[in-house]
Amino acid sequence: MTYQVILPAAGQGKRMGAGKNKLLLELNGIPVFIHTIKVFEEDDLCKGIILSIHPQDEVEFRFLLKKYKVKKVLDLVLGGKERQDSIYNALKTVKGDGIILVHDAARPFILKEHIHRLVATAQETGAAIIGVPAKDTMKKVSNLVVEETVERSSLWAVQTPQAFRISLLLQAYDQAEKDQYVGTDDSSLVERISYPVSVVEGDYDNIKLTTPEDLFFAEAIMKKRNL
Ligand code: CTP
Ligand code: MG
Repeated sequence: MTYQVILPAAGQGKRMGAGKNKLLLELNGIPVFIHTIKVFEEDDLCKGIILSIHPQDEVEFRFLLKKYKVKKVLDLVLGGKERQDSIYNALKTVKGDGIILVHDAARPFILKEHIHRLVATAQETGAAIIGVPAKDTMKKVSNLVVEETVERSSLWAVQTPQAFRISLLLQAYDQAEKDQYVGTDDSSLVERISYPVSVVEGDYDNIKLTTPEDLFFAEAIMKKRNL
């Protein structure tokens, strides 16, 4: 039950407003993307990491991979304009036909236990994503007017990693490219070729570092885990 993982890291971190890629910000003195890579580096089931990066970060990323003695990064791929482009560029370099994970480099708190549950499910069904049930009451709003209150129990906040059979994900990406469709996650590309996607319950700590206040949440999670 092994897998490979694509880590899209080629964004610019505009909403974080740090003046550089947010993945280079440090938590306890270690860059965010190194924290994320370490999870996979230390998981024996992970057979390889493909990192998608922005050309302007290449020198610094290469330096940091060496500094932290990362061994499993098989390939550094140049990303594209959208997250989807960055992943597609990486996906085209993947060999074999096992399970491929896609995981945002900006989510350093993913736990091995959840990765394994996800991989096991994807092995069985071909496609699986991780998420958590919505905690708040959810409403559909248009111009500050409530259109409806959506039944909460059926709503989940979806995260990464997302896991797929390599051939299935490639097929979904090829189709999206053909149709010039851009989705907000990988699953949406698979959904639109009518393939059923399984959902695995993860945890609320698996946040994506997106805006400056997320750094406070990150500090709190680090403390809770004694990191
Ligand atoms: N990403 C990528 N290629 C892009 C855009 C995003 O590889 N063209 C990556 C980011 O580096 C991040 C993940 O996809 O690890 C999730 O994206 P997001 O949180 O939106 O990060 P950024 O795009 O960097 O942030 P922003 O949208 O605020 O600029
Ligand atoms: Mg973005």
